[in-house]
Amino acid sequence: MAEPEKRGLSWSKDPMVIEVAQHIKAATPAGTPSPRWGIVLGSGLGDAVPALEGAVRIDMRDIPHMRPPRVPGQTGDIAIGLMDGTPCLVQRGRRHLYEGCGMDAVTFPVRVLAELGVSHLILTNAAGALNPVYETGDLMVIRDHINLMGADPLTGVEAEDGSPAFLDLSDAYDEQLAEMAMGIAEVEAIRAAEGVYVAVAGPSYETGAELRYMRVIGGDAVGMSTVPEVLAARLLGIRVLGISCITNTWDLRKPHPASHERILEAAGKAAPALGSLLLRVIGQAETVRQMKEKET
Ligand code: HPA
Repeated sequence: MAEPEKRGLSWSKDPMVIEVAQHIKAATPAGTPSPRWGIVLGSGLGDAVPALEGAVRIDMRDIPHMRPPRVPGQTGDIAIGLMDGTPCLVQRGRRHLYEGCGMDAVTFPVRVLAELGVSHLILTNAAGALNPVYETGDLMVIRDHINLMGADPLTGVEAEDGSPAFLDLSDAYDEQLAEMAMGIAEVEAIRAAEGVYVAVAGPSYETGAELRYMRVIGGDAVGMSTVPEVLAARLLGIRVLGISCITNTWDLRKPHPASHERILEAAGKAAPALGSLLLRVIGQAETVRQMKEKET
């Protein structure tokens, strides 16, 4: 049997990744600092953050190899600029496994972010509640995940010594950033909880039996994204904050029909709270970083 294709180091130092990073740099006005933070805005959340200062906006359709999302509610562009003085890259929309594009396409933008020097990544998504106390519009700071996608984006990826890219996930979600987010939510009276995100491949929503199973195994919310990007980011040494926006609740005894349109509507309503939380988390984390830099 033929050896499956090994993706090795080329997975992160892929010529396509380097080409796209160079394309983005070339499209950015001279003097714009390289982004330190990456923010991925999921379904219906594209308007969560205010326009970046001095921002350049690039349509993903104009970036080679960067195929835009084909999902309604996802704009498919990136903006690079300053958020309250911090260099950020905001990506509106993402590829999903359910589009049939494969894991490499799903993780591609994260590898580009790493190549651009991003050290912190905020991943947001729309998710359905499994936890019965959650309400539509709540935010969930992801503290852990359960991958039920049936696939791992690191399959076939090799570490530098040629061994499989075994990845420690005990700190997949950055504790300091998650605690900051929860603290800020409390002060700002934003409804937020910490929870476990269950990732499914989609695009079918869950059956009643599947929802009950996901709750029993420890899930608080379910969605069709984020986990592949978390795994890619962690392999590349990027710190991750994950936030779900609860767009629909499930009655686990008697599930009702779900619809993408209603999910988008709910996400749009919750977007301002998410945006103000993100802004403050970045501000606080940057203040801590600057204080630490001064100490050394
Ligand atoms: N299930 C799966 N994905 C989702 C849901 C859901 O209920 N809501 C938003 N994305």
